[in-house]
Amino acid sequence: MAVPFISDHPLIKHKVTFLRDENTGSMQFRELIGEITMLLMYEATRDLPMRDVEVKTPITVTKSQVIAGRKLAFVPILRAGLGMVDGALALVPAARVGHIGVYRDPKTHTPVEYYSKLPSDISERDVFVLDPMLATGGSAIDAINKIKEKHPRSIKFMCVIAAPDGMKAMTEAHPDVPVYCAALDQKLNENCYIVPGLGDAGDRIFGTK
Ligand code: PRP
Ligand code: URA
Repeated sequence: MAVPFISDHPLIKHKVTFLRDENTGSMQFRELIGEITMLLMYEATRDLPMRDVEVKTPITVTKSQVIAGRKLAFVPILRAGLGMVDGALALVPAARVGHIGVYRDPKTHTPVEYYSKLPSDISERDVFVLDPMLATGGSAIDAINKIKEKHPRSIKFMCVIAAPDGMKAMTEAHPDVPVYCAALDQKLNENCYIVPGLGDAGDRIFGTK
């Protein structure tokens, strides 16, 4: 089982603080989610394989390296995962984007799947599943079950805030899926919201309530 990556980077901590603030409006919230996603993607792509090339600088010819043609796919979990797509694409513009729609039933807090559209060549791709919140873990676990049916080359899960319960459930259900996270919070409340968390990520990204 991969040990979850929980960022201790000052830039991420700083941005997460403003994300949590209830006075942060949707526009700034979206910007912050995008920036945090970029910083997490930087870590999550650290193991991409490289190949040697030659490049001619204005001074001389030298050996250098480029990414070895790895194919990536980003799969946001609707709705809130959409807020992470632009940040991920800013770093890897050639990636394909699939979508999985899952919402939590407000009474039972269990995931309900309502949409799935994945790249047809997903079996040749390394998939990054995007969702800012890992609360009970139900939505992410279900979405990854669905993606695994298509046998991608690998899967990583990227989130902004995780609860200990969700992290445990996720790593038990999918020990082969590394988790990258900006902050690990204290607990879930009686409504299965993350404490201290940031509230409802989808509502804050899209300005709905
Ligand atoms: C949120 C969030 C996750 C899920 C996390 O989505 O974006 O998908 O809750 O909770 P869990 O770990 O307990 O499953 P929500 O159901 O609010 O849907 P939305 O993104 O459409 O608002
Ligand atoms: N979904 C959210 O958007 N926030 C939480 O705290 C838990 C689930």
